[in-house]
Amino acid sequence: MVNFALIHMTPKKPSQSLTINTEVVLPNDTNHVGNLFGGKLMQWVDITAAIAAQRHCGRVVVTAAINHVSFDNPIKQNSVVTLEAKVSRAFSSSMEIYVDVYVENPATGAKTKCNEAILTFVAIDQNGSPLPVPALIPETEIEQKRFDGALRRRQLSLIIAGRMKAEDATELKALFEK
Ligand SMILES: CC(C)(COP(=O)(O)OP(=O)(O)OC[C@H]1O[C@@H](n2cnc3c(N)ncnc32)[C@H](O)[C@@H]1OP(=O)(O)O)[C@@H](O)C(=O)NCCC(=O)NCCS
Repeated sequence: MVNFALIHMTPKKPSQSLTINTEVVLPNDTNHVGNLFGGKLMQWVDITAAIAAQRHCGRVVVTAAINHVSFDNPIKQNSVVTLEAKVSRAFSSSMEIYVDVYVENPATGAKTKCNEAILTFVAIDQNGSPLPVPALIPETEIEQKRFDGALRRRQLSLIIAGRMKAEDATELKALFEK
């Protein structure tokens, strides 16, 4: 008999949650200056990150927080946009997801990174209550760096949300005390 509990809690690598979503910026996706509307990009980011979180834990997931989003370069109409999402750390029921956004040069195929977003998702049961998620085992240098920083980002997010006292954020405080 298949042990579903075991399948769900087996630690996973970030590559196992990799989710790649490619979109084209159509006229309806642009703002008043002809660039990709930020809200549209956030929709693509949220969906791509949700699929990555779901691939990691095999559960229904919800967005708990959008921790960071940067719009580093405008994205023009007709651009081909690729979003790459991976789980960067798993806690008890929550997961941090990193989304890297690239624009593709149609002539050369070369990709330029133009945005980055970090989100927190939570696995839930049929009643909306949080469920445990598998641990994450980083492999590459960048995965390890993101894994290491995730605890501080989680503490900052919980402080902003009024869910944690600043004095309890030991790892975040240590960043300023060096
Ligand atoms: C997210 C949600 C399930 C959390 O439920 P809750 O009853 O507050 O549960 P908890 O307090 O146990 O928090 C669950 C986890 O979320 C984390 N979390 C909650 N808010 C967070 C925030 N702002 N930043 C980072 N992590 C957060 C907690 O730290 C906890 O993580 P852990 O289990 O890994 O330690 C609940 O608030 C919810 O359903 N929110 C609405 C989600 C939604 O509708 N999203 C948009 C559409 S998908």
